[in-house]
Amino acid sequence: MDKNFYITTPIYYPSAKPHMGHAYSSIIADFFARFKSIDNYNVYFLTGTDEHGLKIQRSAEKAGMHPQKFCDNISETFKNLSKTLNLSNTDFIRTTEDRHKKTVQYLWNELEKNDDIYLSNYSGWYSVSDEAFYNEDEIEEIDGKKISISSKSSVEWIEEESYFFRLSKWEKPLLKFYEKNPEFISPESRRNEVISFVKSGLKDLSVSRKTFSWGIPVPKNNNHVIYVWLDALTNYLSALNYSDTDDYLFKKFWPASIHLIGKDILRFHAIYWPAFLLAAKIDLPLKVYGHGWILSGEEKMSKSKGNILDPLEIIDQYGLDPLRYYLIKEVSFGNDGNISQERLEDCINSDLANNYGNLCQRVTAFAIKNCDGKIPSQIKFNKDDLLILNKYKDNLEKIRLKIDEQNINFYIDYIVNSLFEANKYFNDQEPWKKKDDPIRLNTIVYTTLEIVRKVSFLLNPIIPDSSLKALKMFNLSQKDIKFESIKENEFLSKGSKINKIDILFKKIEKKND
Ligand code: ME8
Ligand code: MG
Repeated sequence: MDKNFYITTPIYYPSAKPHMGHAYSSIIADFFARFKSIDNYNVYFLTGTDEHGLKIQRSAEKAGMHPQKFCDNISETFKNLSKTLNLSNTDFIRTTEDRHKKTVQYLWNELEKNDDIYLSNYSGWYSVSDEAFYNEDEIEEIDGKKISISSKSSVEWIEEESYFFRLSKWEKPLLKFYEKNPEFISPESRRNEVISFVKSGLKDLSVSRKTFSWGIPVPKNNNHVIYVWLDALTNYLSALNYSDTDDYLFKKFWPASIHLIGKDILRFHAIYWPAFLLAAKIDLPLKVYGHGWILSGEEKMSKSKGNILDPLEIIDQYGLDPLRYYLIKEVSFGNDGNISQERLEDCINSDLANNYGNLCQRVTAFAIKNCDGKIPSQIKFNKDDLLILNKYKDNLEKIRLKIDEQNINFYIDYIVNSLFEANKYFNDQEPWKKKDDPIRLNTIVYTTLEIVRKVSFLLNPIIPDSSLKALKMFNLSQKDIKFESIKENEFLSKGSKINKIDILFKKIEKKND
């Protein structure tokens, strides 16, 4: 049977260049996409930029540029970042593309046809930075300035003619849906937050603006542009050519397996989006996962606060894979986390250079010297060997389940323990003392090589380049990596040459060492 997996990141505002928070979501999504892909799924991995709305229009005005030109420039830096991060994305969508505009207008017409849209007047608070409407009780005043309590961004009063979406009508169906699909909003703490918000009552949602023009026009009334969140969320459908009714991509990949987002945009994804979809009679995504924030001190790292860490600078200094590994390991997934160069350096030195890199070097060097540079062919496993080898087979199903629960913390712990065990095995078995028992010596080497292979397969979705560098010792490349083969204990082809490999990670000399 064909297994399909559709994962999305938020589409980012190209209002300023990308920062570590954007890199974080993208790297996590890439991890899942790569995991599924080496586990034999057809994967569609979507990312992109969200280019309409007042926030972008104002940023462009400030820069003295036409919004399209402004977006072209910054969107390009996001596209470049996805290359620098070695993302395996299938697609990069921009909401200023025709394929997207067409889908948004199509969806609008569907909503209108089903009587979910009507014309009226809006008055209330609006945050341009969040592109969000806030109720009176979601606003506070600090130093004479009105701000949103949740995001701390400033709000302005707006009053204008507006189309409304009948959100209130979907309150009960949404609650029913959450109840029937407890996994839909993850992690659980986020789910409770959403449910209590919906229970407190949903008002109809303003879904068009009349006082600026940078957006997709409402189909039958060009004086209005469509609310940027209705526009943006639809990207998840436009990438699959939803409006071309018979399209293969939509049939194959919808509903999305997971929308990975930061918790800042949970309301849009867990309330508005499913309501739009219910109204348009489209299946709902299987899951919305709201991860935590990368903090800078106590605060969320964000462009509007100016407290950002540039991923490009970190990559320049330490390399990409250390950053990928670090973000996946050190920010406990689902929670907020602080990041620091100090901890990044510790991670490189202990986990990557010592536990992984050094193991790879030691066993290849030993095999080149003592096994004629070949993968040993005369072997006989004893129970120590089988104990460590079989663990991978026995845990594979569990690993898959944990990944489907987005339990990255389990996954990374599993790898860290495996590396620890592998080193311990090689040390305890002391192959250097077995020169008069070639079968034993060969078996220890073979077993260690097999472990290196299995761990490298597991590491591949986290550190794709470095794990491939290691797997070069066996002449294996990306296409050879399949999770299923982690179960095999004699996967490596006996008698083949072992290649010498480059140092995988350079240790960082720490100033205070
Ligand atoms: O909200 N820590 O775009 P955006 C972790 N265009 N993740 C962070 C982060 C941080 N400090 N800062 C940002 C938008 N992110 C809309 C989305 S989707 C249909 C439209 C990540 O540029 C995180 O994924 O403000 C967050 O949800 C997203 O970037 C917001 O990016
Ligand atoms: Mg934001």
